Amino acid sequence: MTTPEPADRVLARASLADGDPTAWFDRLYTAAARGEAEVPWTRGTPNADLAAWISPGDGRRALVVGSALGDDAELLSAHGWAVTAFDVAPTAVDAARARFPESTVDYVVADLLHPPGEWHHAFDLVVEIINIQAMPREFRPAAVASLAGFLAPGGTLLVCEVAEESTDVATWEGPPWPFSRAEIESVAQDGVRLVSLETIRDGARHWAEFTR
Ligand SMILES: C[S@@+](CC[C@H](N)C(=O)[O-])C[C@H]1O[C@@H](n2cnc3c(N)ncnc32)[C@H](O)[C@@H]1O
Repeated sequence: MTTPEPADRVLARASLADGDPTAWFDRLYTAAARGEAEVPWTRGTPNADLAAWISPGDGRRALVVGSALGDDAELLSAHGWAVTAFDVAPTAVDAARARFPESTVDYVVADLLHPPGEWHHAFDLVVEIINIQAMPREFRPAAVASLAGFLAPGGTLLVCEVAEESTDVATWEGPPWPFSRAEIESVAQDGVRLVSLETIRDGARHWAEFTR
């Protein structure tokens, strides 16, 4: 007997065949809400690497990209950041609001590929954890440009993606589509510069910090 393919793979393939890199996310969250699928990245807890990095926000503005069910946004909010968190999947945004009804986080439906203009250079902290790698590579330059554009002068941009160097590139099938070290470095554009780049989780992920 063969193991059934996970729902995220099936939905992603159908969405990408239609030329839409993001529609499958909402379909997956909707199926999961009905108990018909699992969302592989939801843990019910904040990202452990972000939790290890966390520093006091003192009311400064943070933007969480691909906020999913809200755990990372709530972590930042609890540490004093004024958080905006966005996801392209309305079902995920609704679920985050429902999970944290007292939250001060501003949960927004938005697309990294077409972000609101008022977010340009607006955030003291920008958190990008394993989202851009979930879109095919041809969307990467536009996504990376949006990301760099969010960062305010003197701010910090955190980028964490699966490390291509830890994968067997010849046989690898996305999603996700991992990042090489050079691709992580490409976030340093439009006045943004790299502060540090390391591999974490035994080389499985890149963790980079940028500033403007
Ligand atoms: C692989 S999940 C990672 C979620 C979360 N950042 C984490 O670390 O668990 C990717 C998330 O990004 C969202 N997403 C994908 N493409 C997006 C886009 N273009 N704009 C905004 N959100 C996007 C998806 O809906 C999903 O919630």
